[in-house]
Amino acid sequence: MRNTTIKIMLAVAGISSLIAITPISVVQASDDLHTKFTEESRKTAQEFMQQLAGTLKQQLDSNGTESAIKVCKEIAPALALKYSVDGKTVKRVSLKPRNQLQGTPGPEETAMLVEFDEKQRNDADTKSLEITKAYKDAEGAWLHYMKAIPTQQVCLQCHGKPDNIADNVRALLAKEYPADRATGYSTGEIRGAVSIRRAIR
Ligand code: HEC
Repeated sequence: MRNTTIKIMLAVAGISSLIAITPISVVQASDDLHTKFTEESRKTAQEFMQQLAGTLKQQLDSNGTESAIKVCKEIAPALALKYSVDGKTVKRVSLKPRNQLQGTPGPEETAMLVEFDEKQRNDADTKSLEITKAYKDAEGAWLHYMKAIPTQQVCLQCHGKPDNIADNVRALLAKEYPADRATGYSTGEIRGAVSIRRAIR
């Protein structure tokens, strides 16, 4: 009896010391939190992209490409802000951004975008590519969801090969975005990602 008690005490002490030496820099988001955040973010990304695509299509159909550029410039950041609630930051990022201020990825976003590109090269279905990561940086601990945005046919009039973009559209893009890098895409290529991040408390 006494032996068993001692064994249990030793086991408890062993486990406690293991816990004590676990480095704090490892970010532990519980499985539940990870899954819940991924599911919520997947839904947010879907809604955000659907609204944006709807507005874009409407503008293209009724007012043409040039006016759709202006809508993109105002609507995209406004919609991103609308979804940035409950401690979340929602935006679109790209390895070749058009909007340098809002579209330039941070280090973790860059790593996830590179991962998407690798998967695309390995013929993954780009429509369903997503990643959720938990990590810590100088600003805090984070849960970060990224959903790849594949290029569709309709995108090419503003993101396709420069030679295939209409002159008036190319001129307006050059005026509005002098540092634009977001041309030269073909259908199926990953244009960027919806990025959703929140702090782990
Ligand atoms: C009418 C022209 C036009 C069309 C068509 C268009 N875009 Fe864009 N796109 C823009 C403009 C303008 C911006 C910069 C918006 C801003 O200032 O935030 C942009 C920005 C983006 C960004 C944000 C990252 C960055 O480069 O700044 C992504 C992602 C994107 N577009 C994807 C797409 C996809 C996918 C399609 C097709 C479904 C598409 N776009 C169709 C004009 C267009």
